[in-house]
Amino acid sequence: MTILYCVKNDDNHLLLNAIKRELPDEQFDVWPSCKNPDEITTAIVWAPPADLFDSLPKLQTVLSMSAGVDNLLGHPGLRPEVSVVRLQDAGMGTLMSEYVLYGTLMAHRKMHQFALGQSQKKWLHETTCKNATDFHVGILGAGILASQAAARLISNGYRVSTWSRTEKRQSKVQSFFGEEQLELFLSDLDAIVCLLPLTNATIGILDKRLFHSLPKGAFLINPGRGQQLVEPDLLEALDSGQLSGAMLDVFAVEPLPQNHPYWEHPRIVITPHLAAETVPEESAKQIRASIEAIKRGEPPAGLVDRVLGY
Ligand code: NAP
Ligand code: GLV
Repeated sequence: MTILYCVKNDDNHLLLNAIKRELPDEQFDVWPSCKNPDEITTAIVWAPPADLFDSLPKLQTVLSMSAGVDNLLGHPGLRPEVSVVRLQDAGMGTLMSEYVLYGTLMAHRKMHQFALGQSQKKWLHETTCKNATDFHVGILGAGILASQAAARLISNGYRVSTWSRTEKRQSKVQSFFGEEQLELFLSDLDAIVCLLPLTNATIGILDKRLFHSLPKGAFLINPGRGQQLVEPDLLEALDSGQLSGAMLDVFAVEPLPQNHPYWEHPRIVITPHLAAETVPEESAKQIRASIEAIKRGEPPAGLVDRVLGY
């Protein structure tokens, strides 16, 4: 079989070459070259162009080179019967855990306030901070990345809770679940991390109501998706002191436009959507496992529930 490869931003073919090393006997067409579109049943994609799927009548499976598939599920040409498979961890768990730990340390040790103090030549010596064991981090999501981030925070002495759709059991982590437990989960946090997938249920979840359910002065870390955050509500919460600061990796429009108010906001730290980038070797191993499962007629790991949206 020929596999169609259409991955934006793989200009040096690092990812493609890693996949070819894992699957030396497979044939690949690299978009825009596609010699026999009528024969393509499997495509490996990231940020596919709008017309990609229209020309592939036999397409059965799309393997996404990302953990989040919101972009793909929102693609106008993706037919409902096509299976979508996402990356699960594939090296991103470690990267994401580091990002969340960094944000937590910054919030806990108030490094964002010292940075602001430095810019104003202020010696904020009276600033106090809690012990890590009393610093409570809440993670929205308790999936593959969130559970690894939670474990990393626990191993650094932090108190951690998660909130998910269904109940979880993770050592030393308190699990909250469902809409009805969201308020209680939020009510006692020092920092909140969003690691939810972007779905109809999570779009705009980081809003005024959520911020006001947090204790005053909580810190937001968002490596989830930009559309989960209501931008004016964040700015208002920062200006009122309801939130003490925010570290944001993802944005509704990426790259973040030059004239966006976040760039110069003294309480916002911006990173350019790289909390956990796709790791070529690990991802290629997962692609091989998926292709092998498909050939055996089995569902690949990472099969997305197209109704739930993740
Ligand atoms: P995952 O394993 O599918 O975990 C998703 C978690 O969200 C699950 O615990 C799920 O609950 C929970 N959830 C989903 N909808 C919910 C709802 N309506 N209410 C409460 N909980 C809900 O996903 P993952 O691999 O950890 O990735 C999470 C997200 O991280 C991705 O979708 C992507 O947007 C983002 N990401 C960002 C970067 C970056 O570089 N910034 C990199 C990778 C991924 P249940 O377990 O109960 O179903
Ligand atoms: C990156 O944002 C991903 O979803 O893998």
